Order: sequence, then C-alpha cells, then structure tokens
Amino acid sequence: MKLDQQVYRKRREKLLAQMPERSLLVLAASNLKTRNNDAEFPFRQASNFYYLTGFNEPEALLVLSKGGEHAVTLFCPPRDPAMEVWTGYRAGPEGCVERFGADQAFNLDEIDSRLPKMMDGVAQLLYPIARDAALDTRVKGWLETLGKSVRAGAVLPQSLADSDRLLHEMRLFKSSEEIVIMQRAAQISAAAHVRAMLACRPGSYEYELESVITAYCGSQGARFQAYTPIVAGGANACILHYIENDQAIADGDLVLIDAGCELDNYASDITRTFPANGHFSDEQAAIYDLCLKANEACIEAVKPGACWNSLHELSVRILTEGLIELGLLSGDLDELIESGAYKRFYMHRIGHWLGMDVHDVGDYRVNGEWRKLEPGIITTIEPGIYIAPDDHSVEERWRGIGVRIEDDVLVTDSGHQVLTGGVPKARAEIEALMNNGG
Ligand code: GLY
Ligand code: MN
Ligand code: MN
Repeated sequence: MKLDQQVYRKRREKLLAQMPERSLLVLAASNLKTRNNDAEFPFRQASNFYYLTGFNEPEALLVLSKGGEHAVTLFCPPRDPAMEVWTGYRAGPEGCVERFGADQAFNLDEIDSRLPKMMDGVAQLLYPIARDAALDTRVKGWLETLGKSVRAGAVLPQSLADSDRLLHEMRLFKSSEEIVIMQRAAQISAAAHVRAMLACRPGSYEYELESVITAYCGSQGARFQAYTPIVAGGANACILHYIENDQAIADGDLVLIDAGCELDNYASDITRTFPANGHFSDEQAAIYDLCLKANEACIEAVKPGACWNSLHELSVRILTEGLIELGLLSGDLDELIESGAYKRFYMHRIGHWLGMDVHDVGDYRVNGEWRKLEPGIITTIEPGIYIAPDDHSVEERWRGIGVRIEDDVLVTDSGHQVLTGGVPKARAEIEALMNNGG
C-alpha cells in the first residue's frame, strides 16, 4: 500500500507556495545506521524527506527552489550495476526525474559543488536548523564556499529559516489518502493485538506475544513496527518504556501490550491491557475500568474546536476522582489535581499527534495558546494508571498493577472516528475473547 506520486507532487507544490519569493529549501534523507560491525539496521527514510518525495534511498538530498530555474532537485546515490548486485536496485538521477518528480537530479558527489551556486542570491535559505548536526555542518560549508566568491559577485542568503515550521504544520493535517493508509495500519495492528490476546496463557513469555504481533503485521505487508513493542507482564507494565520483553508471564498477571505497525511509513499506536489467565481480579478490574472510563470520555471529547490540553485535564480529573474513590489517593479532588498528586500513578500525558512519526510533528501550542483540534488531525488517547510494585504507601493488593488503554482517533468534521476499534477494550469483551474466542 503506497501513496501515488501525485500526492508527493502536490505536497511539494503546497510547500513551495508557502515559501518566500527567491527561497531555497534543503532537506536530507536518512543514512544507513550501523547496528554492529558491518551489519546495518533496516533503512527507514527520514519522515520529512519521504513526505515530500516518496523516495526511499539513503543519503539523498532534496532541494526545492522558489523562483529558481528548477523547482525540484534531487541528489541521489548513483546507479552502479555492480554494487546493485549487493545493495539492490537504485533509481539513480534518471529514475529520480522519471519516477520521483525531480526537475533535475544529480549524483551525490555533485552536492558540494552545486549547492553553493544554488544558494547564490536567495532571499531565504530554509533547512531544519540544529536538527541534524551533519546537515548543519554541510550547510555551513556551502555558505563558506559561497562566501569566498563574494568579490566575484556571489551573494549570501539574506536569512536562514527553519524548514520544519512549514512542513510540520502540513504534516499535522492528514489528507484522505493518508487517512486510508493510517486506517489500514491501525486495522492490522488491532487484529495483531487480538491474536496476542488469544495466544496468551499463564507461563507465556513476553517475547512470544511480541512475535505474534510482529508476525501478523508482517504477514499483512507491514514489515516494520512504528516503535519497539512493549510487552509487559505484571509489574513490568509500571516501567513506561519497558522493551526487554523477556520475562515469563505469571498466572494472575495483567499483560500490557503497546504495539503498532507502520505502513508506507505511517504509524499506528495501540495499547491494550488484559489478564494473562482471561480473568481480571477485583483490583485489576477496578483500575482497568477507571482507565477505560477516562479513555472513553476523552475520546468522546475529541471534536473540532476542542482544546488539546482540555483532553488531558479531563483525563486527570477522571483518574484522580477514581483514585480517591478507590482509596489510593486521599484529600480534596481539586487540591490533588492542583498539587499534581495524581502524577505518582499517571505520569504521562493523554496522548500525542500520530502520523509518519509515532510522536508526530506539529505544535501543541499555537501563538501561546493550546491548539484547538481540527479535522484531519490524528491523536492518540492513552490514559494509564501505574502502581509501582514497591509503593508501600498503598495496600499490597494494588501494587504492581499497570494499565494503559490507547486508541488512535481521527478528528472529523462532525466529531471523531476511532481507527483502532478492531480490538476490544471493554472488560467483558476481552474476557469473552480470551475464554471463548470472542
Ligand atoms: N508507543 C508510544 C506511545 O504510546 O507514546
Ligand atoms: Mn502513544
Ligand atoms: Mn503506544
């Protein structure tokens, strides 16, 4: 499942339309990263670069020029049939022009000679300032080279600006084509979570459930996960970024799985928490139902015009109220909220934008105010409660319970659409699935 090249062309045109007159934008692709010795991690293109090109090769450079002779220039690895036997097919400059919409394209080794000339006389140079040390150094080098020619008439860019400002605001709002891909990614991940629930038994190892998730996603064409899955049995769920996934899951444990696949570089992000033996204990059920109440109420509040922070505040109020009712916090509701007492059990925020990056780009505050939701934004809603196993301030029966329930929610014109409805979250539904297959 891949976006059409027309989509990338339209994005470049939209970005160019917002760039100042006589400006140049420079964006670098990702490089291959070494895992150990000469083995590399699987290649993942830089999201901004992929967003504008759909080009999936390392080391490339995109230059967009407004007011210049060629609007779209790509620098890319050269064709090299002998190397391609080892590395796989490369598009080369010709392929970049024919298939990736470049008006002109060159081999990588022409970057340093061409870039200073391309910058000559521009009013503004845009690039991701201080995001990528290697690119910062290269830009400085190109500017220095250009600076050496001022007596020969060269003119340095009048200003530098951050390219992320424009690009990230574009990426925050998903088009119908992007929504289709993200829906599919969410659907695959939801089905993978169902399979993990069905596969789980007391005594299962966390990595077995991880492999159920990754194998299913891979079988549906989503070879990569959007982030390392968290499969946490029992108190491991209280470690928010637990990724060891190497422990046996005991009878009576809850299992928290936070996993989502990536499809054409778009993320999904789902968390479900379920009992390894198919039955919630009373304490587990109480904490679970409280998280579910916050999850459902916050999802209901997702609509155009809703203030981003009000969603978080709603989750804080519901969870704090519930923690008081359960005797896990004591005192006045407003004071406990004001003092942040709930943070002992709920230490993260309600969610985050979701897109090509799991923690997607786009400002949460605009002109000093929290952003108001608008159609096309996709956010996660993921309240959680984590009671540390060594928290002796609470009764023993609560200790080591960690629950998070996370869905991906699209803001629509009329409200919202949950993309992750394919995996149950009501307690009775989870128990029915695990005990009778649904
Ligand atoms: N899976 C990362 C997160 O939920 O933020
Ligand atoms: Mn998340
Ligand atoms: Mn998550």
